[in-house]
Amino acid sequence: MLLEKIIDEIKRKKELKDLDNEFIKRRINIYLLKNKIYLDEDDVNRRSKKYMGLFKAMRKELRIIYGAFRDVNEKRASKIYEEIFSLVGKFDRLLDLGSGLNPMYYAKLNKEAEYYCCDINNQEIKALNRYFRRNKIIGEAFVFDLVYDDLSLLPKADVIFLFRVLESLEYYERNISKRILENLNSKIIVVSFAKNVLSNRGNIRRKGRIWFRRILKRLNYRYKDYDIGDEIFLVIRK
Ligand SMILES: C[S@@+](CC[C@H](N)C(=O)[O-])C[C@H]1O[C@@H](n2cnc3c(N)ncnc32)[C@H](O)[C@@H]1O
Repeated sequence: MLLEKIIDEIKRKKELKDLDNEFIKRRINIYLLKNKIYLDEDDVNRRSKKYMGLFKAMRKELRIIYGAFRDVNEKRASKIYEEIFSLVGKFDRLLDLGSGLNPMYYAKLNKEAEYYCCDINNQEIKALNRYFRRNKIIGEAFVFDLVYDDLSLLPKADVIFLFRVLESLEYYERNISKRILENLNSKIIVVSFAKNVLSNRGNIRRKGRIWFRRILKRLNYRYKDYDIGDEIFLVIRK
């Protein structure tokens, strides 16, 4: 099928190769609709101007929302997770949104609990499910797009993690963070932002992310912030 062929070409870039096809398909369809473009096989084969426009726009967009935000210091020290777990207190079920491989580094801290996590990276989802099985952790990883999938279908949890993910989603839909927070079914939500990205004025200190704090104020949610490692963590109570 034509779309599959386009997706294959887009995914030839190393940093995009593990992205979920459905996720890319949606972006392509939105681009075609917005720009009132119709593409056929011939456009793709002879790499017409229309096709190259789409191709370049998609690569750029996907790199921004997916690639660029992954650059910063992927792995956290385990004491950071211990600190977060102690801030959150006892829980039975945790849901990690836009998890990356994150749960591999903390699930062992509380083996009694159940872990659910989602991302748009297929390979990471497979690796997480393997990890859960091998380590006898009760949990499931699944592909889920936080922008377009139905948030009400997410499993209910005592605690939800949204680590370094909201900023890239805002690129797609302004104030999507508000919509996500409102629709999550959990009393505690922990959000993090990297301190040293997106700012050329040096590190963003604890008081940063004013836009996000405004959202919390509008929603009337209580929160506390913590400066831990390279990130700002906000523990939000609904
Ligand atoms: C910077 S990484 C953070 C990973 C992990 N939360 C952590 O802090 O280590 C951002 C993650 O969000 C995921 N992501 C980006 N857009 C997404 C979307 N629309 N739906 C679900 N996950 C998304 C990416 O695949 C990536 O794993």
